[in-house]
Amino acid sequence: MRQYRLVARISSQELERRVDELARQINRDYQGKQVLLIGVLKGAYVFLADLARRLSFPVEVDFVRLSSYGNKAESSGSVRITKDIEVDIQGRHVLVVEDIVDTGITLGWFLERLRERKPESLKLCALIDKLERREVEVPVDYVGIRLESGFLVGYGLDYSERHRNLPDIREVEFTD
Ligand code: PRP
Repeated sequence: MRQYRLVARISSQELERRVDELARQINRDYQGKQVLLIGVLKGAYVFLADLARRLSFPVEVDFVRLSSYGNKAESSGSVRITKDIEVDIQGRHVLVVEDIVDTGITLGWFLERLRERKPESLKLCALIDKLERREVEVPVDYVGIRLESGFLVGYGLDYSERHRNLPDIREVEFTD
């Protein structure tokens, strides 16, 4: 494994402030509705837990696990569902909760698959919308933090499965 150090990027206070603001916005938009939150494993687990506890309408929670083969910069055909959601979303208000949208390949593909299942509404909430490597246009309805670049870990995000449990977000800087 390469040598690296972690540099502070988004503090836990800032994350809390942004999750609060997102929840306020989502609470306004979904007032009186029953909503299904779909978290994309593994990265979204921390964000979803924090967001869901701030929502003031009845929510159901389910999870999906997606995997991309090899280089994500290849075709969108390389995404697949390795663990599907367990509920029928037809006629439901669905809000997909994701930690980060990067190239957009994973979520672009997944939103299309969900649309085929005919939900009443379908929106995407991403904690981080990272723009530099975007290849597929993905409509992110709720954005926590918009960034240009950076290899980020913490608050659910990992580097080789490490650092998901950090309470803040840090940037990996390679030192070798
Ligand atoms: C991350 C993230 C998204 C995807 C975004 O997941 O949670 O699902 O990558 O990348 P893209 O926009 O370039 O497609 P990852 O594959 O790292 O899995 P993990 O959530 O289990 O860490």
